[in-house]
Amino acid sequence: MLQRGGLVAFPTETVYGLGADAFNPRAVARIFEVKARPSFDPLIVHLAEAASLDWVAVSDDPRAVELAARFWPGPLTLVLKRRPELPDIVTSGLDTVGVRVPAHPAARALIAAAGTPLAAPSANPFGYVSPTTAAHVAELLGATVDLVLDGGPCQVGLESTILSLAGDPVILRPGGLPREALEEALGVPLPVAAAAERPLAPGQLERHYATRTPLVILAGRAERATAGEGRVGLLAQLPTHAEGFTAIEVLAPDGAIETAAARLFAALRRLDGLGLDRILAEPCPETGLGHAIMDRLRRAAARDA
Ligand code: TXA
Ligand code: MG
Repeated sequence: MLQRGGLVAFPTETVYGLGADAFNPRAVARIFEVKARPSFDPLIVHLAEAASLDWVAVSDDPRAVELAARFWPGPLTLVLKRRPELPDIVTSGLDTVGVRVPAHPAARALIAAAGTPLAAPSANPFGYVSPTTAAHVAELLGATVDLVLDGGPCQVGLESTILSLAGDPVILRPGGLPREALEEALGVPLPVAAAAERPLAPGQLERHYATRTPLVILAGRAERATAGEGRVGLLAQLPTHAEGFTAIEVLAPDGAIETAAARLFAALRRLDGLGLDRILAEPCPETGLGHAIMDRLRRAAARDA
């Protein structure tokens, strides 16, 4: 299907992707159509293995080689100088390309079998919460894609961390690989790029990853929160005795931040499906994966940005 220009949704360890042959501009154009995605938004190219990097990027940067060896396959996207052969529609005409090797065995098998790198955004309509199960994809994009490969729920549950090495190293999007791990590997502190008007990464758009239901981040622990008027949902990080809520989702019943990350988008989606007036979200400490979780919650909470 991919070789014929089709669109295949596939599992990765982060979120489900909507893939097309990166060297087929018509197929890639269909991704933008299906996602209703603004065309300024470049796509991540997915490889089966780091050895294929030369196909799409100029990989003479020793930092890229080192990070690829250390963190691929895994939830890290590197922004590197692109190869001119890559169609412009993939990179939105930028002279850089975002590239990663996903860790899910089904993703790597699919890319290897297709024999071509796959351009793939998260398999959700633009701006909405990313899918972490095949059922989410079917629900959101069902009839418009040619195939949805079911590889079970995503283990990481947050999109990849995007690190640009095009200039001074900068994190364009916090994600499934903690910033601390990258700083340790590179031996330098890494700034996180601020939201921009015309973003390098829409993950940088202030309002993104959003629920349809208004979402408000609490100042502290859920126990202290009052639900207030109407039908209100609570997104709690930890088991809670909070009262007065129409629905409560606990992200980490076992107290582990990895569990919270893996369950975040599915929990948001469940709350969003209940027709609530409001969702209150408990914050988590901003270390390790907590940085990306809070990033997504803030963007979901930003109204009319
Ligand atoms: O975990 C992930 O990264 C998932 C899975 C499917 O791999 N993909 C994903 O793709 O989140 P998407 O399209 O939803 O988000 C990719 C982000 C976008 O914000 C895009 O702007 C940014 O990567 N990006 C891609 N290429 C870029 C480039 N050359 N320079 C700057 N940002 C880039
Ligand atoms: Mg996305």
